Amino acid sequence: MKITIIGVGAIGGYVFAKLSEAGEHDIQCVTSPTSALLKQQSIQLSSDNQSLTYPIKQIASDYAQIDGDIIFITTKTTQNSTVFPRLSSLKNKTFIVIQNGIGNEQHLAKYLHQSNTIIGATTNIKVTKKHTDNKVTLHNPLCQFNYALFQQGAVTAELGALFNQIFTSVTHTEDIYQARFPKLLVNLSCNLASILYDACMQTLSTSKEPRHLIEQIGKEVIQVAQAYQVDIAPSRIDLLLNKLAEPGFKGVYFSMKEDFDAGRPLETETVFDNFITLADQAAIATPVTRSALNQLYIKLEERQLSKV
Ligand SMILES: NC(=O)c1ccc[n+]([C@@H]2O[C@H](COP(=O)([O-])OP(=O)(O)OC[C@H]3O[C@@H](n4cnc5c(N)ncnc54)[C@H](OP(=O)(O)O)[C@@H]3O)[C@@H](O)[C@H]2O)c1
Repeated sequence: MKITIIGVGAIGGYVFAKLSEAGEHDIQCVTSPTSALLKQQSIQLSSDNQSLTYPIKQIASDYAQIDGDIIFITTKTTQNSTVFPRLSSLKNKTFIVIQNGIGNEQHLAKYLHQSNTIIGATTNIKVTKKHTDNKVTLHNPLCQFNYALFQQGAVTAELGALFNQIFTSVTHTEDIYQARFPKLLVNLSCNLASILYDACMQTLSTSKEPRHLIEQIGKEVIQVAQAYQVDIAPSRIDLLLNKLAEPGFKGVYFSMKEDFDAGRPLETETVFDNFITLADQAAIATPVTRSALNQLYIKLEERQLSKV
């Protein structure tokens, strides 16, 4: 089976490197038209003291050339409105959406033919890649991957073995909410607190105000998740905060905070707005999240005005 990877950044580059390492797959990479990879045609994956380079044999920026049976979508969700409509002519494929946020699969399904299968996935991996080069750095070697079926199409691909070639620990969850809410708990609370308090991962845990905000937002996410039959133990928030207190997280930032500081677009729609919509639909009050979000949107507006 041929594999296509759309969005060969940090996650997509990592997926490409691991599947190349497995040596069993015909892999096509799909990039933006301005991608540095169109010239470099390789991915270098670095982890601990090892660094290996994997040549890209097939690369395209024209979506009409997509011909994989299994298609990973690993672009930022800020690109979804551009990328998803361009996939509408494809049939009998299996799409695997590895992105943060919630509601991504529902959005994709609006554009795809019903013969396609859609799988949604989250991971706690931390990988980085600069847009201008081909170097991917893996920061946590033990990475978990949770996936769920969102839409069953005509073809059933065997995916468990494939995912095990990429991630250390793979879990198939019952539905998409089971896969997405636990990661949303981290993304939503930590990204908001990190931007509002200009805090690194460790400070989020060790400083009183961001820690309190994470605890409060975390509780609201757990309540909304419950309304969608996802049980997240409240102790998960403490576990998260204890983890962030570790020395390795000093001076390390969540990627949305890095995007905010660099003036890049943020994944606000999928990480924040879609959560609020789900909360409203379930009639769950989320006053702390809403208030923090309002502060974030004011900051984004100020940033926009300062550019003019
Ligand atoms: N990085 C992590 O550790 C991590 C962990 C968990 C979840 N996530 C989530 O995974 C998703 C991907 O994140 P990421 O960190 O991998 O982002 P990223 O490094 O920005 O990679 C996305 C890549 O997409 C490519 N791209 C942009 N527009 C495109 C288009 N129209 N068609 C094809 N490719 C396009 C860009 O590369 P070119 O310009 O070279 O094409 C870019 O490098 C996000 O939702 C993120 O929140 C990331």
